Amino acid sequence: MQFTLNSPLDMHLHLRDGDMLKNIAKFSAKEFAGALIMPNLMPPVTDINSLLSYKERILEVVSGENFTPYMSLFFKSDYTADFLQKAKPYIAAIKLYPSGVTTNSESGIERIDIKKLSPIFEAMSELCIPLCVHGETNGFVMDREREFCAVYEQLAKAFPNLIIIMEHITTCASAEILKRYENLYATITLHHLLITLDDVAGGLLNPHLFCKPIAKRHEDKEALQELALNANKKVMFGSDSAPHLVDKKERCGCAAGIFSAPIILSALAELFEKHNKLTNLQAFVSNNARDIYKLTPIEKNIILEKKEWIVPAKLHDVVPMFAGQSLKWKVKP
Ligand code: NCD
Ligand code: ZN
Repeated sequence: MQFTLNSPLDMHLHLRDGDMLKNIAKFSAKEFAGALIMPNLMPPVTDINSLLSYKERILEVVSGENFTPYMSLFFKSDYTADFLQKAKPYIAAIKLYPSGVTTNSESGIERIDIKKLSPIFEAMSELCIPLCVHGETNGFVMDREREFCAVYEQLAKAFPNLIIIMEHITTCASAEILKRYENLYATITLHHLLITLDDVAGGLLNPHLFCKPIAKRHEDKEALQELALNANKKVMFGSDSAPHLVDKKERCGCAAGIFSAPIILSALAELFEKHNKLTNLQAFVSNNARDIYKLTPIEKNIILEKKEWIVPAKLHDVVPMFAGQSLKWKVKP
């Protein structure tokens, strides 16, 4: 048994830089037609030159694969309309990180002052540059995303022509407001469709499932599944695959991020099949993103076959999600 996905897209991907980039980019480049590349390098990608040279480095390591890196800039409060106009041809989105909420977000935005930032949001609306947001406050860890919903609502109301993408949503609260505002969209990760906080910390602690936003409750996971499995037009796949070397994960002070890239399409196929929704996978992993981002990806057909395989324990000193476990579908090489 097999089926084909046409030009899958991963609309939230961390490819890192240097050796890590060299080692891990291939996992995405082989199985996806393109991905939105996150800008939270050290230092973050905030200008056109560093964005273009980062893109070059990515293209160099994925040469030979049919893969488009869609680039994003790291939101800065001093961006001007003139700068945004110049950046527009090179970027697919701008990613806003509140300061300190996740890996390499220290130079993010301290306070999202809608009035002060409005010239940027107005310019982005006019230029049709989507605003991707890491929507968490600095509050209690389980409440951070729910608390941030008020900011999403303010943004959605104040800038009705701005395409706002709620990144990696994890809660019922986000699923609710997403439906309420026309200009709100969301990415959903593989891991938030499959795990809850119990998998991270309910038994023995599993650092490889520790990420931001932290996985939540069963009812939250079900709300995300409802959106993804039915290929709701307002959601698209964004893996948030975020590799860290094993010694950064298996230690006190474990870095946040799950490396899911090597298993994404296999695990998604298994989930969608289990719920009798395989026919909706194409929309969730590609068509919805094309509509939301107005993209025409390169043609690339990925064949998945029903064939059991075991996820390797480690790949280049990074432990992938579900290491050592078996999956039912495999991407045909
Ligand atoms: C990401 C990373 O490691 O860059 N970590 C994570 O837990 N998801 C950053 C992010 O997207 O929050
Ligand atoms: Zn991320």
